[in-house]
Amino acid sequence: MARSMMAHIIGPRHFSTLRPVARNDTGIKVVNGVMKGPEKAVVTWIRYFSVMSSRNASTMTLSNKEQNKQDEKVQSDSADTSPIALSSRNNSNNDKGVVVSYWGIQTPKPWETYKADLSIDLKKHHAPVTLLDKFAYWTVKALRFPTDLFFQKRYGCRAMMLETVAAVPGMVGGMLLHCKSLRRFEHSGGWIKALLEEAENERMHLMTFMEVTKPKWYERALVLVVQGIFFNAYFVTYLLSPKLAHRIVGYLEEEAIYSYTQFLKELDEGNIENVPAPAIAIDYWQLPQDATLKDVVMVVRADEAHHRDVNHFASDIHYQGQELKECPAPLGYH
Ligand SMILES: [Fe+2]
Ligand SMILES: [Fe+2]
Repeated sequence: MARSMMAHIIGPRHFSTLRPVARNDTGIKVVNGVMKGPEKAVVTWIRYFSVMSSRNASTMTLSNKEQNKQDEKVQSDSADTSPIALSSRNNSNNDKGVVVSYWGIQTPKPWETYKADLSIDLKKHHAPVTLLDKFAYWTVKALRFPTDLFFQKRYGCRAMMLETVAAVPGMVGGMLLHCKSLRRFEHSGGWIKALLEEAENERMHLMTFMEVTKPKWYERALVLVVQGIFFNAYFVTYLLSPKLAHRIVGYLEEEAIYSYTQFLKELDEGNIENVPAPAIAIDYWQLPQDATLKDVVMVVRADEAHHRDVNHFASDIHYQGQELKECPAPLGYH
């Protein structure tokens, strides 16, 4: 039962990496349906500790005596189907990794899923006309130079590292709009949610590429430094000029589209192996089971094109003398 609960929560793909050995719910090998010798003892201990740990997690404010009474009540009243009764009953069946909720909280998949819109125009470009736009454009072009030098043609690694940066602006912008909404007692027009959706989408790009390329220690160290600088720089820029901040992100997204197009070329030419798509990508973008890395790069590139549009649009709203809240945000625009 606990295993089926886990399947409901994180989906069947996660079990594809389990070793195909006949085991029961405790993970102990079973020979002809009978546990023997030391394995039987191990099961007894695991059951004892799993019950004890879930008890500590779910009823921290109750004394042991009260908890024992509650356990007895749950066992005697198996017909009770209230959320608390159900969650308490699950205490005795829980598996490692399943947190039993005393509060009746149901946990769905930890990410939304959707089908990417691949028909989006990848070639759209915002021509920089004003001084501010030119500053944004050339700032992004200047940032590209050291990036090209560092990564060269290692597009998998490049994608993974750049997604650690790409997920920052949406969160910073969303957070600042959130605080502004609180300070001014006013709505945001959906822009808080739209920007946080973008941040989450970018973070899922990172979670995906992490499965393809594992970061080395010095790359993790680089992320710490870059995030420290970029978060603060973007925070200040957004406070001073949201129209500049959104324009910079618009141009960053244009560069991301270009990089992913180069990534696809390398895959087509066989310079990068077109490995099977990671399970998380198949779940998130609802890809076919036989999807490959190329399919993943295509949907990620489409996402970047959507971010490009959202951010140039947000900048345009400011350019037209309006605030974002006056123009409804494109929610769920991936
Ligand atoms: Fe991304
Ligand atoms: Fe993006």
